[in-house]
Amino acid sequence: DNDGGGSPRSLGFQAVAKNLNDAVTLPAGYSAAVLYAFGDPIDGGTPDFLNNGTDTASDRRAGDQHDGMAYFGLSEDGQYAPSRSDRGLLVMNHEQVLDAYIHAAGPTEDINGNRPQAEVDKEMNAHGVSIVEVRRDGSSNSMSYVQTSAFNRRITPFTEMDITGPARGSARLSTPFSPDGTRTRGTLNNCANGRTPWGTYFACEENWFSYWNRGDDAALRNAADNAQLARAGLGPDTRGFSYRKWDTVNADVYRRFNITAQAGGSATTDYRNEANTYGYIVEIDPFDPDSRPQKRTALGRFVHEGCWTAPAISGRPLVFYMGDDNRFDYIYKFVSAENWDPADASRTDRLAVGAKYLDNGTLYVARFNADGSGEWIELSVNENGLDINNTLFPFASQADVCIATRLAADSVGATKMDRPEWGSVNPVNGEVYMTLTNNTRRTEPGQADAANPRLANANGHIIRWRETGGVQEATSFDWDIFLFGAAANAEASTNVSSLTDDNDFSSADGLWFDSRGLLWIQTDDGVFPGADRSNNQMLAALPGQVGDGSVVTTTDAPTIAGAQATPDTVRRFLVGPRGCEITGIDMTPDYKTLFVNIQHPGEDGSLAEPDGSWPNPSRNALETGAAGVRPRSATIVITKDDGGTIGI
Ligand code: FEO
Ligand code: CA
Ligand code: CA
Ligand code: CA
Repeated sequence: DNDGGGSPRSLGFQAVAKNLNDAVTLPAGYSAAVLYAFGDPIDGGTPDFLNNGTDTASDRRAGDQHDGMAYFGLSEDGQYAPSRSDRGLLVMNHEQVLDAYIHAAGPTEDINGNRPQAEVDKEMNAHGVSIVEVRRDGSSNSMSYVQTSAFNRRITPFTEMDITGPARGSARLSTPFSPDGTRTRGTLNNCANGRTPWGTYFACEENWFSYWNRGDDAALRNAADNAQLARAGLGPDTRGFSYRKWDTVNADVYRRFNITAQAGGSATTDYRNEANTYGYIVEIDPFDPDSRPQKRTALGRFVHEGCWTAPAISGRPLVFYMGDDNRFDYIYKFVSAENWDPADASRTDRLAVGAKYLDNGTLYVARFNADGSGEWIELSVNENGLDINNTLFPFASQADVCIATRLAADSVGATKMDRPEWGSVNPVNGEVYMTLTNNTRRTEPGQADAANPRLANANGHIIRWRETGGVQEATSFDWDIFLFGAAANAEASTNVSSLTDDNDFSSADGLWFDSRGLLWIQTDDGVFPGADRSNNQMLAALPGQVGDGSVVTTTDAPTIAGAQATPDTVRRFLVGPRGCEITGIDMTPDYKTLFVNIQHPGEDGSLAEPDGSWPNPSRNALETGAAGVRPRSATIVITKDDGGTIGI
């Protein structure tokens, strides 16, 4: 139900029960099909996927671990058609690889510890981005991807990209591949995403640091680079948690994953700056298969979860919200220097439009005060102590701020959050919501603050704010906490939002407002004890507004209070198969086709002892996986059996 112009007033489905099934569970009256699963071919010449580890042509197949996703309507002449629901381009991230299942017998290495190139190529091609054309099936609202479409494309860690914005040409981005620091190869660990009003897609580089190998080379680097690399998780003598020895394949495009500085600095083999070309927002034009992805450095460098665009208003700057998904890291926003011209929405030189709004502007980081107010602190060189004399990093230029962004935020006193994941702007009132997924390392009483009030915060919470005067580019805001995750059977002091069996959740990660103002919440590894244990899930929520929720007091003794949920306002819509995370969501503009990503089903098992085998080869997402089938990440397409709109 919707009152027409305001927020939705009621949820139109029955709550799904928590469960541990190896299948997708949906409310009565809904169906779901597997649309695009790991290994699916994206052209007519690539063979069907055998799913036994022997498949070839990994650069012409769906990647693994589907994450953030966006649907763009596609016109007959191949341009962006925002209102079109029957034909579009589906663009999605492939965050990671579940390497246990993709090789014939697991990942291998030779007697010298070197990886076979064929395995490394398959692992690298499992990462990146897919662009696939999708069409409705006859009169059904369900969709299939068009295997032979000329729009289909894979972007991988091999794909050449341009570096744009303030850090373009910085000496810190000089590599053997691009000595002038203007280009790089590839993108990694693209988690959440974003989209622009002109029809481009943001792939955001999250745990990029975790793929590299750095030797004990501190003495060969200057203090500033040692500081920024260490703050990024790449201190001396580091192998990241996603390090798979790709650098042991003896060719430049693989060896660059060893960033150990070399004495004398060989122009062809010193890869010390390679990792400095990662950690950005990457803008992609899905409508031009030959276009080069653009790394937009003005939006800063950190563990970018995603990038969410506020509604564009003619004659006003564009505003983008971002989170750094790390324990005790920050929430950011970027305000364009140029004011929005609605004519730019239909230009076909989309990456030139991107350069106009994304290469010049002001970066801010958030401070949440204990009285429910907050401020955006500017991160510009020679402002707020970000100058050459800064004790954390000598900021000589805006390029330095855009490369060592975390150190800039550290030095201005931003609020350390409980792992910012997805954000979204309520289209009804402009309020911004962001998940804080969890932080079990906030353990000392003095570490709690009003915006992150729970110690050992295993279940996370969702914060929201309203910019002053409703002006999205304002430099101050009011905030409260929308919901706290908890098990329904937890004590009231933990189950602050009074969740019930119909809506309890933990570790919210994905978060998305559809254009009606309905809020969708997706979870990642929520830990509920005993009978409350469930596979990961997706809920729908009626949002309310800032002020409904917590009453905050002081930083010394934060009040832990949030908005109260009821099954009428927050309700479970979907439970995923075993081992998966639910992440990534979009809908056609008529609200009749919903896309959701099922990431790493079977993650808790191995090839020898699989825990789950979803999806069933029938590609009916509601069916249990078939014994002996290797689990695969997949996009599912959800429709209502009566042909109606989804959710309300
Ligand atoms: Fe890839 Fe922060 O989730
Ligand atoms: Ca995430
Ligand atoms: Ca997560
Ligand atoms: Ca995951």
